[in-house]
Amino acid sequence: MEFRKLHPLFGVEIIGVDVARPMTAGEFQPIRAALDEHGLLLFRDQDIDDEQQVAFSEHFGPLEKTISANPAGGTLFARQSNLDIRTGDLIPPEDRRMIYQKANYLWHSDSSYKATPSLCSLLSGRLCPPEGGNTEFADMAAAYDALPGETRRQLEGLVAEHSMIHSRAQVDPRVLTDAEKAELPAVRQTMVRVNPVTGRKSLYIGAHCSHVVGWPEEEGRAFVRHLTETAIRPEFCHSHAWRTGDILVWDNRRLLHRATAYDATRYKRLMQRTTVAGDGPTVRQ
Ligand code: OGA
Ligand code: MN
Repeated sequence: MEFRKLHPLFGVEIIGVDVARPMTAGEFQPIRAALDEHGLLLFRDQDIDDEQQVAFSEHFGPLEKTISANPAGGTLFARQSNLDIRTGDLIPPEDRRMIYQKANYLWHSDSSYKATPSLCSLLSGRLCPPEGGNTEFADMAAAYDALPGETRRQLEGLVAEHSMIHSRAQVDPRVLTDAEKAELPAVRQTMVRVNPVTGRKSLYIGAHCSHVVGWPEEEGRAFVRHLTETAIRPEFCHSHAWRTGDILVWDNRRLLHRATAYDATRYKRLMQRTTVAGDGPTVRQ
């Protein structure tokens, strides 16, 4: 196993691993350790099917089931694609499934709208466009470290409300049906998430994060906006240009990520995501 840094602050490419092959706990251990240390893992040239992806993902922990609003709802996969799941045809841009995916253009941490937020996500590039469609990552551990001491102390006791309704409203409030909204009550998350292995703290915000619990709502929203604006700096970010066969694993406790645009009327894109559940709520609900 060989490691190659992707960015000065975070991320490594791991060379010499076939993730489709069954792995012992001993073989998996350095991969798990690399996630804690580097926050983002890249494996290239992986020819993997859904079953093999699930088997590899389960080494990290139990998987989340996808919420019913997702185009792949009820399965273990979140599908990021412009291809119809049954016919394989291009989905027209005005289709609800494409509008739903637009929320991925906002910086976010997967499943922060769930009471038990996720540990990490695995995204497998099954079909990648030749240009565009990068996934970008921002290091919220670096962002936390760069905050003034006073802000870090202030954040220590703060809890924020996260909700899928809030993030989808930034794209198109009609994208969720009333029945879907009813399944997605707002949750609370600490504004700082700690990696229990390294002790490293990260600012825990993103598109689902709306305001601060116990503060006037507008003041909390402005604070979250301000934190986001100062946290997302070019030097904290890495943009991944996909090649078919790539697999990325990212630590949702530490990184925010977002999708970028591609010509979805011209190129096919099919990415399969599995999401590993965290070990419990960050705060009492
Ligand atoms: C995701 C996601 C970004 C992309 O799968 O969680 O945000 O580039 N994907 O598809
Ligand atoms: Mn995501």
